[in-house]
Amino acid sequence: MCGIVGYIGGQEASPIIIEGLRKLEYRGYDSAGICTLNGGAPQIRRAEGKLINLEKILTTTPALGTRGIGHTRWATHGRPSEINAHPHKADGIVVVHNGIIENYLKLKEQLVEAGHQFSSETDTEIIAHLIDEHYRRCGDFEEAVRSALRQVKGAYAVAIVCQQEPDKLIAAKFGSPLVVGQGQGEYLVASDIPAMLSHTREMIFLEDGEVAVFTPEKMWVTDLQGTLLEKQSKTITWSPLMAEKGGFKHFMLKEIYEQPRALADTMAGRLQLDEGDVFLEDLNLTAEDLAGLDKIFVIACGTSWHAGLVGKFYLEKLARIPVEIDIASEFRYRDPIVAANSLTVLISQSGETADTLAALREAKSKGGKTLCICNVVDSSIARESDAVIYTHAGPEIGVASTKAFTTQLVALYLLALKLGRVRGQLSAAGCQQKITDLLTLPRKVEEVLELDGSIENIAKNYMNARDFLYLGRGNQYPIALEGALKLKEISYIHAEGYPAGEMKHGPIALIDENLPVVVLVPQNATYDKVVSNMQEVCARGGIVIAITSGTDERLRQQVSALIQVPELDDDLMPILTSIPIQLLAYHVAVLKGTDVDQPRNLAKSVTVE
Ligand code: M6R
Repeated sequence: MCGIVGYIGGQEASPIIIEGLRKLEYRGYDSAGICTLNGGAPQIRRAEGKLINLEKILTTTPALGTRGIGHTRWATHGRPSEINAHPHKADGIVVVHNGIIENYLKLKEQLVEAGHQFSSETDTEIIAHLIDEHYRRCGDFEEAVRSALRQVKGAYAVAIVCQQEPDKLIAAKFGSPLVVGQGQGEYLVASDIPAMLSHTREMIFLEDGEVAVFTPEKMWVTDLQGTLLEKQSKTITWSPLMAEKGGFKHFMLKEIYEQPRALADTMAGRLQLDEGDVFLEDLNLTAEDLAGLDKIFVIACGTSWHAGLVGKFYLEKLARIPVEIDIASEFRYRDPIVAANSLTVLISQSGETADTLAALREAKSKGGKTLCICNVVDSSIARESDAVIYTHAGPEIGVASTKAFTTQLVALYLLALKLGRVRGQLSAAGCQQKITDLLTLPRKVEEVLELDGSIENIAKNYMNARDFLYLGRGNQYPIALEGALKLKEISYIHAEGYPAGEMKHGPIALIDENLPVVVLVPQNATYDKVVSNMQEVCARGGIVIAITSGTDERLRQQVSALIQVPELDDDLMPILTSIPIQLLAYHVAVLKGTDVDQPRNLAKSVTVE
């Protein structure tokens, strides 16, 4: 996730901005840049890689001035490179931006027609040119920013300077966070509080659609129409570490709570509701390629493999293509039969997992086409695959994968919808219905997050269990596997995921009054079957924690604990039921006092075989 820092006041801006950006390093980034104003042309310095590379450039060619904006970029549109690093400039307008502009292609076409020339592959550069276009017409920096932002669709947090009006810095937000820090004779603006804590603890939180204008002495906030708004500052008492985690106790919890935003970002710009279709920007495969496929392999490790198991349901149901799923370390050594008209889908949060990378190379060497679903732009797997669907989860820092998993499910669903349409298996109307359901997902995830307190109470009751069993059927079976993996990883409690119907073939012998059994039982075609499996547990004195939708009073009376999620299309239900299993594992681990973000023996990215 990108970071923004801006400064206007009486001190040299560049050291303050660099210090702020360093405090945002934990968010992950692949390039960095800065722009200061010192009476002449904007002084822009940018570098690929870590902040140290930018600092080296600043040592030889300093950027002077008491106003400036800086940025650390986590690539979404365009690979990580100096040319794509922010700030972006159009004439005298210079912009840094977090978020994703959904209508950037349309805006770019209009701007190119008006004579603008672009030098990067980013959506951000469009904002600079759009403001410049308005500035040429109205000659007023503030008005130009507001007019431009009224045309932009998507999520943004921006900080902007203008060579012709150097005593003003403007910041605005919609859907991406932005906070203002109020100092003595100076103002700072940043995407996150830690960037400013060493300067001030007085913060003003901007809301969506607000535009803040700063001079060193004063600041005012308007809406996008220019109406002045009243804002109050708040004093922040967090420690620097708490601030990095956005006030959450752990990165894992922060990332669980980021899911509504991460899911929305992964859909952004890709859903074509009117046409009943899906647009996947880096899908370098023609409609003919997609229509001609007769088999899909899905390959991944760990949590990403669980996402693949759900993906098999999506692809077979919506696109009617046979799917074979493999764990990467198995695929690479089993001499698989990969035909030329097959597609191998690699799933990896990091894009660097050694086994998945080797499996990709194995599939390529056998002649099939490859596509990866990945969270890190330009990672090894993304670079080597023929096509990519990026999940826009933002950097995941907690070792236990949460938001990467649910965004992978959305990416797989988008792929299945696309293939369903291309192959004539899904009508435009059918796809419109699926998109309509998908659009409700972030809100429903928010509703499930509200159950956090009651899930913590359930965790208190069962935290001392020695083992846990997770049961699910159909597309909930992978969620049972994922629930067990999450619990194992961070609480070190032994747990197993099992297909509910398979329990009677062995694991039933484990059931007694000490074994909590988490049963995933949403209202769907197999509801009654899973309830029967659950009753087999109850009949043997087992403890049942049910995760369900609907309001079946019979169920409520039989179980020891019940977590009720909202109703949703059954295809998307695995995304919703993932949230309680993440929160349950998290709270059990916290109660047991383990190192939640960096559990023993585990690494975030497994780059060895
Ligand atoms: O980066 P990847 O998605 O390729 O990583 C795969 C696994 O190593 C990863 O999902 C691992 O299982 C996580 N720790 C799960 O929480």
